[in-house]
Amino acid sequence: MTGKRILLIIGGGIAAFKSLDLIRRLRERGHSVTPVLTPAAEQFVTPLSASALAAQKVYRDLFDLTDEAEMGHIELSRAADLVVVAPATADLMAKMANGHANDLASTLLMATDKSVLIAPSMNVRMWEHPATRRNLACLTGDGVLSVGPNEGPMACGEFGFGRMAEVPEIVAAIEAALSDGPLKGRHVVVTSGPTHEPIDPVRYIANRSSGGQGTAIAQALLSLGARVTFVTGPASVASPQGCELRPVETARDMRDAVRAALPADAAVFAAAVADWHVTNAADRKMKKDGSGHVPALEFAENPDILAEVSRMEAGRPGLVVGFAAETDNVIAHATAKRARKGCDWILANDVSEGTGIMGGTENEVTLISEAGAEPWPRLGKGEVAQRLAERIADALLSPK
Ligand code: CTP
Repeated sequence: MTGKRILLIIGGGIAAFKSLDLIRRLRERGHSVTPVLTPAAEQFVTPLSASALAAQKVYRDLFDLTDEAEMGHIELSRAADLVVVAPATADLMAKMANGHANDLASTLLMATDKSVLIAPSMNVRMWEHPATRRNLACLTGDGVLSVGPNEGPMACGEFGFGRMAEVPEIVAAIEAALSDGPLKGRHVVVTSGPTHEPIDPVRYIANRSSGGQGTAIAQALLSLGARVTFVTGPASVASPQGCELRPVETARDMRDAVRAALPADAAVFAAAVADWHVTNAADRKMKKDGSGHVPALEFAENPDILAEVSRMEAGRPGLVVGFAAETDNVIAHATAKRARKGCDWILANDVSEGTGIMGGTENEVTLISEAGAEPWPRLGKGEVAQRLAERIADALLSPK
């Protein structure tokens, strides 16, 4: 991507310090950054640091005559290719959702004719507050793009969703927003890899999924300009660069991470999710007691993430894609699975012995949709991913 101009509004939150690093990373990638600091942001970072890192003037005040003489605020809001708000505090989000224009940041956001990307950052209770939920829904409806927040420990000592997305994630979201690909501005959730279901703190039940196909799909979606949230179990291949990464372990963690990542325009469920988890998992390592006694494991069914998301009444992604790995009657089983789970498309493949597909580099799939079964030729997993990403772009872009 050739260098783009980014207007970076830094809000007043503890995560403002990460925005200084964001300036550096964006410049390393050839973009120019014009920083705007809110008065609250100046409590966390200094205009001098922002200016030195950006090698640009920092804008701070709506009524600064010098700024207005050099470049009026309307012009400033339009000279950029993208407006980024990081950190986007609860207060800034509320101002944006309600159309306030009572300081430089809110006025620029009202005056701009460019896309806006926010990286929310706040305490978990503030993030979960109905007012913030309403404001986010309103901003999403207005076409504002967002990245994060992530779950984790917070500067205030609490734990939960509210941490600003990490700098590489924000850079990826910025580049996706600036991309000219057909999926520009679209958000896709991809699940990938196996899940691990604990038996005790050191043992677990797993499966042989490498995460290869899911990773290739995420990469292909990114290459078409999508913002991708990649929810992955412990896979053996490296996660794709540039996605919003959500590492999980169990099927239940995966379900929670998928739900937290919504809303999305599309969701692709490529993970090999364990069907059951152990209900009597020990909290200490199980030991042999010398008596020959063998522990009995008890199981309960895991949530079916694909089926749950497919059947969501509110907030269902526009396109839900599942996989069906079958060993016999592939088309019949996969067609029945599509109906049972309620998804839009199923990519079915024959993983019986001798096909070399499980753990191999190639895949031979049949796309099952409302229109019927469409066999694809045997292709590399990367080519299957590219073809799927293009079909997703066609489906999202074609009028319903
Ligand atoms: N899947 C899921 N959550 C689960 C199980 C499966 O999201 N708990 C998704 C997979 O990611 C895949 C699809 O559902 O996209 C098919 O999974 P599969 O395990 O083949 O289907 P099952 O429902 O287990 O059916 P069966 O046991 O008959 O093969």
